Amino acid sequence: MVYQSLWGNTAAVARAIAAGLGPSTRVAHTGEVSPSQVEGLDLLVVGAPVHGMTLPTAQSVTSVGRRTTGPGEMPANLKQPLLREWLSAIPRGPLQAAAFDTRVKGFLGRGGTSTIERLLKTQGCQLVTRGEGFIVVNQRAVHESASMLQEGELSRAQAWGAGLRELAQPPPALG
Ligand SMILES: Cc1cc2nc3c(=O)[nH]c(=O)nc-3n(C[C@H](O)[C@H](O)[C@H](O)COP(=O)(O)O)c2cc1C
Repeated sequence: MVYQSLWGNTAAVARAIAAGLGPSTRVAHTGEVSPSQVEGLDLLVVGAPVHGMTLPTAQSVTSVGRRTTGPGEMPANLKQPLLREWLSAIPRGPLQAAAFDTRVKGFLGRGGTSTIERLLKTQGCQLVTRGEGFIVVNQRAVHESASMLQEGELSRAQAWGAGLRELAQPPPALG
C-alpha cells in the first residue's frame, strides 16, 4: 500500500484499506518505499488525493505551500514525492494492482484513480478491480490530521480492502 497525502486523509484511508486486506499488508508513503521494492508483491494498492481533477503535481503542491497557515492550523505535508513520479519509476512487470483516491463530491471529484490506473497499466500492471474514490469535505483551515473525511468513509475503505483481498489472485505455485 503506497500513498501520497498532504493532511492525512489519504493516509487514513490507506491504513483502513490495509486493515481490510489483512495483517501482512505494509503501508508506506511515497517517501518511505522505493519504487523498486514493488517487485514480487502479491498486490500493489496506490492512492492519492485528487488535485485539479488529476493527481497532485509539483505546481499543486507548491500552491498549497504558498498558503498562509493560521494559528492552530496543521501544515500540509509537502515533502512526500509525487505519486505520479513514484509510479512512473516502478519496474515494468505483470503486477496485480488497484487504485484509490480521496476527492470532493461532485463534478471536481474525478481524475485521481483514472490517472493512477493509466500509469499502472503503462508499467504493465493488471488491475484487479475498478478504482474507488473516498469522499472528503474540503476545509479552508485544517486543524487535525484526517479531519476532512466524510463520516463512514473509513469503514467503507476497510470493506473495500477486504473485497480486494478476495479479488487478488495468489501467484501461481512454482514447479
Ligand atoms: C491544490 C488542490 C487542488 C484540489 N483539487 C481538487 C479537485 O480538482 N477535485 C477534488 O475532488 N478535490 C480537490 N482537492 C481536494 C483534495 O482532494 C483534498 O485536499 C484531499 O482529498 C485531502 O487528502 P490528503 O489529506 O490526503 O491530502 C484539491 C486540493 C488541493 C490542495
